[in-house]
Amino acid sequence: MTVNRQWLLARRPQGMVTEENFEYRESPVPEPGKGQVLVRNLYLSFDPTQRGWMEDRESYMPPVGIGEPMRAGSVAQVVASNHPGYAAGDLVQTLGGWQDYLVVDGSAGGIGLSRLPPGVTPQMALGVLGTTGQTAYFGMLDLGQPESGQTVLVSGAAGATGSVAGQIARIKGCRVIGIAGGPDKCRWLKEEARFDDVIDYKSENVDSRIGELCPDRVDVFFDNVGGDILEAALNHINLRARIVLCGGISGYNATEPQPGPTNLMNLVVMRARMEGFIVIDYVDRFAEGAAALAGWMQSGELVHRDDVQEGFENIPATLNRLFTGQNIGKQMLKIAEPS
Ligand SMILES: NC(=O)c1ccc[n+]([C@@H]2O[C@H](COP(=O)([O-])OP(=O)(O)OC[C@H]3O[C@@H](n4cnc5c(N)ncnc54)[C@H](OP(=O)(O)O)[C@@H]3O)[C@@H](O)[C@H]2O)c1
Repeated sequence: MTVNRQWLLARRPQGMVTEENFEYRESPVPEPGKGQVLVRNLYLSFDPTQRGWMEDRESYMPPVGIGEPMRAGSVAQVVASNHPGYAAGDLVQTLGGWQDYLVVDGSAGGIGLSRLPPGVTPQMALGVLGTTGQTAYFGMLDLGQPESGQTVLVSGAAGATGSVAGQIARIKGCRVIGIAGGPDKCRWLKEEARFDDVIDYKSENVDSRIGELCPDRVDVFFDNVGGDILEAALNHINLRARIVLCGGISGYNATEPQPGPTNLMNLVVMRARMEGFIVIDYVDRFAEGAAALAGWMQSGELVHRDDVQEGFENIPATLNRLFTGQNIGKQMLKIAEPS
């Protein structure tokens, strides 16, 4: 334990991220000061929002600085602690970044530092019971407000967030249609996640298929993609529909500002509501979300998939799997197992 391997942000991306955007460095393992905790990253989370953190623009978090370790959520293990709340060996969740070791303020709390609940594995903590599952839970229930018998449409439906969001709507008694890329993901959504129907946006006309599959129109659209898919969905909204803007991954690598939907007036005509959200605003209610999600997992109503890559050298390339659709479920990378 002498060397801290790190991937630093070296250059801001134009378009898709490449390895040129990062620089590998080895530095000494930091010493924890008063009230601080030294942790070792075990599992890294990969999230589309990291692409936004690489841009030099105002957002819900400051941009990652040039020369800083790339920001990332992680599950880590406490190596040494100068804080009474943590002891060596504890498994924690933190914003660990692309590095082996970091020191964290022991009082950070929330997404800064929190202990893994008993029985929760690192993969669950980053995926279905972590911010990913919480995004699906609060986005679908607080904003989408699905009611039994209604029709719910989800884009990015085979992904970590979309697949959970759609299943929650199904659990609440809705008819759920997913939009995803490719036959394998579509098959999984129907056969395992038990979506009522699926649209393969890579081989089908999304607009006309929504019309065919949603004869009573769409009451809730949970959107992870934006762009043409958002526009197509807006053509089919019902009276008082809720459009939940969770993300817009189709535009994250765009080099020009993306045009908005041309049919926003449908919101007026249909007295509909479109609203964005950021999951960290719900951090005080994460225990509620985790309890509900864990209960549905135990009863077999909620399934999920994790995509765990390995190897410190593969960290930069793993980010792009989200934007090429290579990830099968929640994208993570394992650096080490708990000791
Ligand atoms: N608001 C919040 O607080 C919050 C929190 C977490 C995540 N999010 C958002 O939730 C969405 C999903 O995130 P996730 O972590 O669960 O990732 P994910 O869905 O597991 O992975 C990303 C998926 O997006 C799809 N995709 C990529 N490029 C696309 C394109 N141009 N057009 C259509 N689909 C594309 C791919 O699926 P296909 O193979 O099906 O194309 C890919 O597998 C993102 O938009 C993210 O920003 C929001």
